[in-house]
Amino acid sequence: MKIRRLRRCELSVPGSSEKMLAKAASIAVDHIFIDLEDAVAPNRKGQARDNAVAAVRDTRFAAPTIAVRINDLTTPWALDDLTALVEGCGENLDVIVVPKVLGPQDVVFVDRLLSMLERRRGLSRPIGIEILIEEIQALDRVERIASASPRLEALIFGMGDYARSQGMPVSNVGETDDYPGDLYHYHRNRVAIAARLNGLDAVDGPYADFRNPAKYREEARRAALLGFAGKWAIHPAQIELAEAVFTPDPASVAKARAMAAAYADALERGEGAISFEGTMIDVASVKAVEEMIAVADRIEARRTP
Ligand code: COA
Ligand code: MG
Repeated sequence: MKIRRLRRCELSVPGSSEKMLAKAASIAVDHIFIDLEDAVAPNRKGQARDNAVAAVRDTRFAAPTIAVRINDLTTPWALDDLTALVEGCGENLDVIVVPKVLGPQDVVFVDRLLSMLERRRGLSRPIGIEILIEEIQALDRVERIASASPRLEALIFGMGDYARSQGMPVSNVGETDDYPGDLYHYHRNRVAIAARLNGLDAVDGPYADFRNPAKYREEARRAALLGFAGKWAIHPAQIELAEAVFTPDPASVAKARAMAAAYADALERGEGAISFEGTMIDVASVKAVEEMIAVADRIEARRTP
């Protein structure tokens, strides 16, 4: 499993808001993406693009990963978004977020275009891609989409647009209303499996009611239990809620490290199954906590750069 970046929380910042862009600079979230798509009015698309290029080029963000969400590939803006960003941002742009992907060809198209633009600009580091799975066509083809490009880093389940695409009458983005059980269980599960099959992160989309921390936490937890790496925030108040859910708890990490050490000793002695703190552990038990330890190591490395 390749874990390239921390994505416990991805904060969306509308590109048309100079105020929020300025505020975002000092927010130490794992990942910030500047939005050129649905948070930006059609008559502000050009201004938002210029703001995004200037912000990525000139700002020292506290967040280690800086991304921009372009407009979808059926719009008149997407081409200019991509060219302006690669031309203007230099080496500072880590990831492009592509919304409303419909099939693997959309990912291949963005990959090729990025290659051309990077070569023209002489960039040394390939820009990563994250895509939104938020159309029924995308969910239907999610396995093929997830393996379409080596640039792909994450699949994001965008439940707002997805609900519209499937004709689900939900009240607010991310809301599950009175559905008995988890309305998005099937979709999240498919996204998580396709992501993991290809070594990608699965990231849960937005929850619009930012004054409802309990429900946000519940949605984040549902995603976490299916193997998601993190969740979007649309408001700074949601960041610590996501981080609390997607940060492995210190006691579990300490226990995992002790278990891995005890098991390494056992292997030296030629034993494959041992008793650890009263239960049987074998190689499967150790493998099951390897990823949690890797995430904890990454968080630790971020704290002490
Ligand atoms: N990024 C950076 N700063 C943000 C922010 C964000 N996403 N959302 C709010 N803030 C700032 C506000 O500017 C405000 O700053 P101030 O204290 O200096 O005035 C502070 O955080 C508190 O915000 P608040 O007053 O509670 O909310 P608001 O009414 O200013 O904004 C929204 C509410 C929903 C309009 C705003 O959070 C937003 O635009 N979120 C992103 C929407 C988005 O990107 N959607 C697309 C993806 S789904
Ligand atoms: Mg969307």
